[in-house]
Amino acid sequence: MPGHHDRRPTRTLGRTTDETGAANLNPVALSTEWSRALSMTAPIVNAPMGGTAGGALATAVSRAGGLGMVGMGSTGSASKLTEQLAFFAGLNRPFGIGLVEVSMARDPLLLSTAIAANPALISVSFASTWEWVAQVHDAGIATATQIADLHEAQRAQAAGVDVLVARGAEGGGHGEPQIGTLPLLTAVLDGVEIPVLAAGGISSGRGLAAVLAAGASGAWLGTAFAACTESLSSETTRQALLAARETDTMLTREFDIADGYTWPSHLPERVLRNEITSINAGQGVGGLTAVHSAAEVVQRLCAEAAEMLSRWS
Ligand SMILES: Cc1cc2nc3c(=O)[nH]c(=O)nc-3n(C[C@H](O)[C@H](O)[C@H](O)COP(=O)(O)O)c2cc1C
Repeated sequence: MPGHHDRRPTRTLGRTTDETGAANLNPVALSTEWSRALSMTAPIVNAPMGGTAGGALATAVSRAGGLGMVGMGSTGSASKLTEQLAFFAGLNRPFGIGLVEVSMARDPLLLSTAIAANPALISVSFASTWEWVAQVHDAGIATATQIADLHEAQRAQAAGVDVLVARGAEGGGHGEPQIGTLPLLTAVLDGVEIPVLAAGGISSGRGLAAVLAAGASGAWLGTAFAACTESLSSETTRQALLAARETDTMLTREFDIADGYTWPSHLPERVLRNEITSINAGQGVGGLTAVHSAAEVVQRLCAEAAEMLSRWS
């Protein structure tokens, strides 16, 4: 194994059942070296989804032991970020902020506002330049970026990025749909030495267990949190997510072109199949059956993953 990073998940099984047989989800702690280093008690990060993952969702995920990320997407700005950061007053848990290069370039105050908030992690997606890494490091903050193939992963590692998000083609929202999550994750884990989070199509305890068993330092989940009570999704979007099956997504650029957004052609978005409105969702959407709080999602996924992993000890 080329990396020095210990990629074995650790589980502290405390799962119990009450008299109805229902699982008591609270006591299970599932962790990796990376999640422990960030004082997280669950190796789960909510993807920084612009327009979906605001301060309410991020603080709820952080309170539940994961890493809550506020997302500023292509229409993000310093003032919108400042609005969402108000939720973090008094949080006492690690959190992160996720930006995309295009809005960072348009609003130079965006990165400085993110740095001033002193998060544990700043992520920049769809990055083609790397000056931001040193700027963020100078403030003592760790960096992350999403990558879609091994070459991009190695380039980001060489640029000094601390943690990679291996985002497979199954994932919701914008991304380079080149390789499925599992082959991407395994190639990247074999080819870099820094921690790697797995993203794309993970919306169940089984999926979480699979990527942790493969050596991921955690899972970066978008769709699984998009229907949560704390997300910024509209009620119509929530209901559409719950109704969708795993076959109901497609890749498209149509909505971006119609809305005049300047996304490059290699970055289509995965949406729910429909012709009217862009609802970003990954192939794991079929696993969403009810609206839950973010804490319930974190606890259920960890409990199920710990149970799955315990079968192999
Ligand atoms: C509703 C939604 C909005 C998203 N917005 C962003 C964004 O603003 N910035 C970003 O880097 N990724 C964004 N993504 C992609 C996520 O970072 C991540 O790659 C993806 O959600 C992982 O796949 P999953 O949705 O199957 O969990 C978004 C995803 C969704 C579902």
